[in-house]
Amino acid sequence: MVSTHPTGVQHSGSQYLPQRHDTKANPSPNQELLPLTAKVHNHDSLEIGGCDVTTLVEQFGSPLYILDEETLRSGCQQYRDSFKQYYKGESQVLYASKAWNCLAVCAIAASEGLGIDVASGGELYTALQAGVNPEKIYLHNNNKSREELIFATEVGCTIVVDNWHELRTLLEIVESANSPSVHPRFLLRLTPGIECHTHEYIRTGQLDSKFGFDPNELEELFTFVSKQSFLNCVGLHAHIGSQIFERQPHRDLAALMVKWLRDAAKYGLKLTELNVGGGLGIKYIESDDPPSIEEWVKPICEVIQEACAAENLPLPKLLCEPGRSLIATACVTAYTIGSSKVIPEIRTYIAIDGGMSDNPRPITYQSVYRAVVANKMSSPLTETVTIAGKHCESGDILIHNALLPKTEPGDILVVMGTGAYNYSMASNYNRLPRPAAVVVANGEANLILQRETYEDLIRQDRLPERLKGASSFGRFIIYGKM
Ligand code: LLP
Repeated sequence: MVSTHPTGVQHSGSQYLPQRHDTKANPSPNQELLPLTAKVHNHDSLEIGGCDVTTLVEQFGSPLYILDEETLRSGCQQYRDSFKQYYKGESQVLYASKAWNCLAVCAIAASEGLGIDVASGGELYTALQAGVNPEKIYLHNNNKSREELIFATEVGCTIVVDNWHELRTLLEIVESANSPSVHPRFLLRLTPGIECHTHEYIRTGQLDSKFGFDPNELEELFTFVSKQSFLNCVGLHAHIGSQIFERQPHRDLAALMVKWLRDAAKYGLKLTELNVGGGLGIKYIESDDPPSIEEWVKPICEVIQEACAAENLPLPKLLCEPGRSLIATACVTAYTIGSSKVIPEIRTYIAIDGGMSDNPRPITYQSVYRAVVANKMSSPLTETVTIAGKHCESGDILIHNALLPKTEPGDILVVMGTGAYNYSMASNYNRLPRPAAVVVANGEANLILQRETYEDLIRQDRLPERLKGASSFGRFIIYGKM
């Protein structure tokens, strides 16, 4: 089956190139399929960040996460500049690093002036090692351990307190520190009761959610917090979910949060920060139509400004914490095509050298992706195939019914939009070493995550003395580094 456009033009992988090359000067990355620097060169080859993708795979191995620095920076700048343009008060964009937390990504986001939202002690540690100023780090999650709370307090980042247990633990930490200088700075996370249309696993704003204080207990909560002179409550937080295309839920959230701010003031709490969370969706397939970054930021600013004026409240410092819309489109994953299986009249499977371990989203959320063949960008799309991962699991399918040119073993398959929640949710299922990642810019590629080796896989294994030599083979064959 040859795919043709209504105009009679044959489709090829080039159709996914960013709009920058025709109409838009500064496209919103989340509305594109390929990174902003993607081009076809030598007629048939995909280039990202000035680097030939097939050559990158030869250099760094396969599978390979390829992160386009310009796309990530452009997203950071668009968020930052939209707040400057539409919000009269102070603002701070935080990168929700759960989407992809590693040294290089945190460092790039921070160098664009963004703060970092971290969801655990491990993410906090990484952000600090990347050189991020702790005053611009916000710690999340719904069950922070005492150690995580102490760590955050000691380094001086802001804690987003999720529940009563945490609030009391924080108070105990302050009391036991017995030091007048320990005043943890925190926001209270509230559940807004706003529903949005996204996968149920990534919805968080509805009342039946594990996250945040129930808004029905605001009175008790504000009374309690207002009496704690050692705790430095500076604001409120809410997050309604992820991969959201609708515009109304965030407007409703902004209006509701200003009401909460007004209510807090009645208890003598002078709160100066509002954090509206993240959630802006991205285009994974042609029919996805998310708002641009600017279209997402503008109404939130307008609603908060209008509501504050109506309530006669000073403008709070406005924060948001996008993850996916900053990083997803900036990255592609390159795989090498291997075996295939043709089941006549039913399906053709094409297998790649990765799968659910480097991208668990299709098997977890039935997420859909598009792919191109990096060394056949101008070839007509003539085959409908199923892209299978290499794991021992029938459900390990990355893409159903992918439209591709005719492929052969050794071709480089590039799956688009893999920057968010791929590496960060990657596993070693079947003891596959996790892939390497490179950042590309101006024709240069730098390693940001080294490929795991077989040695890495057993680094934390321990073989008790009594089991040594217990196998009938009784000796160990030591292979060199993979
Ligand atoms: N803030 C909080 C408190 C969050 O929980 C999240 C995402 C974000 C910000 C960033 O949301 P974003 O802008 O990325 O939509 N693993 C799932 C997504 C889980 C989202 C978790 N929280 C996936 O692969 O789709």
